[in-house]
Amino acid sequence: MASRLAKELLTKMTLEEKVSQLLQLAAPFYDEIKDDGEITGPMEELGITDAHVSGSGSVLGVSGAENVIALQNKHLENSRLGIPLLVMADIVHGFKTIFPIPLAIGCSWDMELAEASAEIAAKEAAVSGVHVTFAPMVDLVRDPRWGRVMESTGEDPYLNSLFARAFVRGFQGQDLASEKHRVAACVKHFAAYGLAEGGREYNTVDLSERQLREYYLPAYKAALDEGCEMVMTSFNTVEGIPASGNKKLMRDLLREEWGFEGVLISDWAAIKEMIAHGVAEGEEEAALKAIEAGVDIEMMTPCYVHHLPQLVQEGRVDEALIDEAVLRILELKEKLGLFEEPHRGADPEAEAQLVFSAAHREVARELAVKSSVLLKNEGGLLPLDPGQKVALIGPFAASGDILGWWSWQGSKEKAAQLGTAMQQASAQASNVVIAQGCQIESISEAEVQEAEAAAKAADVIILALGESSEMSGEGASRSDIRLPEAQLELVRRISLLGKPLAIVLFNGRPLDLHGVYDEADALLEAWYPGSEGGAAVADLLYGKANPSGRLSMSFPHTVGQIPVYYNHFNTGRPLSEASSEERYISKYLDIPNEPLLPFGYGLSYTSFAYGELVLSSDSLTAENPLTASVKVTNTGSLTGEETVQLYVRDITGEVVRPMKELKGFRKVRLTPGESAEITFEINEPLLRYYHSDLSYKSDPGRFELFIGPNSRDAAKGSFQLVR
Ligand code: NOJ
Repeated sequence: MASRLAKELLTKMTLEEKVSQLLQLAAPFYDEIKDDGEITGPMEELGITDAHVSGSGSVLGVSGAENVIALQNKHLENSRLGIPLLVMADIVHGFKTIFPIPLAIGCSWDMELAEASAEIAAKEAAVSGVHVTFAPMVDLVRDPRWGRVMESTGEDPYLNSLFARAFVRGFQGQDLASEKHRVAACVKHFAAYGLAEGGREYNTVDLSERQLREYYLPAYKAALDEGCEMVMTSFNTVEGIPASGNKKLMRDLLREEWGFEGVLISDWAAIKEMIAHGVAEGEEEAALKAIEAGVDIEMMTPCYVHHLPQLVQEGRVDEALIDEAVLRILELKEKLGLFEEPHRGADPEAEAQLVFSAAHREVARELAVKSSVLLKNEGGLLPLDPGQKVALIGPFAASGDILGWWSWQGSKEKAAQLGTAMQQASAQASNVVIAQGCQIESISEAEVQEAEAAAKAADVIILALGESSEMSGEGASRSDIRLPEAQLELVRRISLLGKPLAIVLFNGRPLDLHGVYDEADALLEAWYPGSEGGAAVADLLYGKANPSGRLSMSFPHTVGQIPVYYNHFNTGRPLSEASSEERYISKYLDIPNEPLLPFGYGLSYTSFAYGELVLSSDSLTAENPLTASVKVTNTGSLTGEETVQLYVRDITGEVVRPMKELKGFRKVRLTPGESAEITFEINEPLLRYYHSDLSYKSDPGRFELFIGPNSRDAAKGSFQLVR
């Protein structure tokens, strides 16, 4: 229900003013406010007028308290009805304090820290004048060729849903009106953008509605259940219709079925792109389709402002559709308190104090520690002893390019570099000798020889390798996801020395680890760990912290195996030990079916033993759940954190069910010798799924249950669901 204030305003607005509210422009359009005269170019390109700019409802990509205050003042001066501007921006994994990339946060399996990171991001952004963040991105991802997997928390609908909720809580808090240090969240990209064909950016998505509901929708829905204020349409098609003109998705599902009353925004230019997709003849038809689908804000194209007024006058669009959209935008402004306090949290003093504060960076460091995943550690090479002589070699040995994509406000110069942090952590700085070895994508003999000399003099070699941050994120799909050849060459040359070798990876996607995995004695996946990344990685390398991250996305053997994910089907001709020599079996001739490193996988410097899996009963009913327990013991010599994972398989369904589905997990911290009894409740709702008629229910019958340290190595039990 629309508020009184919004309704009253609406009655005073002309049709042109209403339609202008639906326009969102990027910062350069408002540069006239700073009098630097940059306005003409972009305005001409979009074919819009001064009146459109001064009447626009929202802006994207502006920040800085003074900037935003000046912008808002100027905007209000020009606004006949005193309607404030909404300021939106992509605050994806931090504002100036940059946290690990979302895929890394996904590997922390830590909802409290994820929430804390979003809360800090919100605080820094809010005091810098931002009202809405275009986050969380909750697209489920199975294709690491797609550069945007770095923005997602991974391949599992259950885990992604928990993170979606945590991020929304962190951004929005309890009450946006009273909490000025929070920002409204905008969940994206609705829907199923993670399934872009071939992992190619902006590409087609096509899937059954059942699959959409089962895997792709839950995380968006979870964000909305947590109160997320906004939704962004995706660039892709769904069932042949681009999301921004997709009535079935936007009206029928999002608005009608889910009851979403917040603001729906198109992704950048996505309304106009319906022309290139081939479902709209021109801007007018694109505008018509988008408004009919219920898209409230058009980001960065002028289809609405150019055509909606006339479409209404000609009676082809009901003005009620426009009123609906305007009301939702005005209500969001009201909810954020912008009518009373148009500057909201923007505050230069608070900005100077809070942004990139030591307290915020401390949380970034903690989260980076929890997000890194130890993939291999033969012979216990790690942790290092502070007295050891280390050669730290590679393009990330002394690099600030560890923030990852979507860190437009972050400073690479201020990022904690690995080399400096390791020199501080070792017994004496001279124990850690740094050599470049190669660049990200090139190598010279001189660089290699310098690196070899450093390596020969050391007890241990650490190679710091990876992708530059431009190699993932938006518009950065790769068809070959190995490390660039120059770095593989460095690994070859250095491993010839036959010395203990650990590799630390800084990257934005699961990689094909050929040329790295077998060559290294130890392998630490640090992802892009953010502003405090170097310090966090040094904490892990020297054992001040014990790795606890678990993969939230599988690492393929090779690119030819993609998509490879843990919750796959069995097929009618499954591969097994007994069938592996047969031809007519679902398999590859040259690689295994399973990924190199499965979902849920990650090592620790200590070891954990799992006791017997005990079920309280061999059957359950809707009224009587059962419990599954296991005793987990720290059998090593260091305190560590284990992530105990629960998976279920429905042996016979009305439709085929995945081999395993994550249904719960617990993180436990155990001192050496300590044990914990971990108990999960298995109840009937946990066993429901979408049937062929899209009903969501369980079927009686036999289930398997797995508890263990990852999706591959879990102990198995079984039970019956009885009606
Ligand atoms: C395009 C991206 O797909 C989206 O995620 C982002 O929020 C917008 N650009 C605005 O920057």
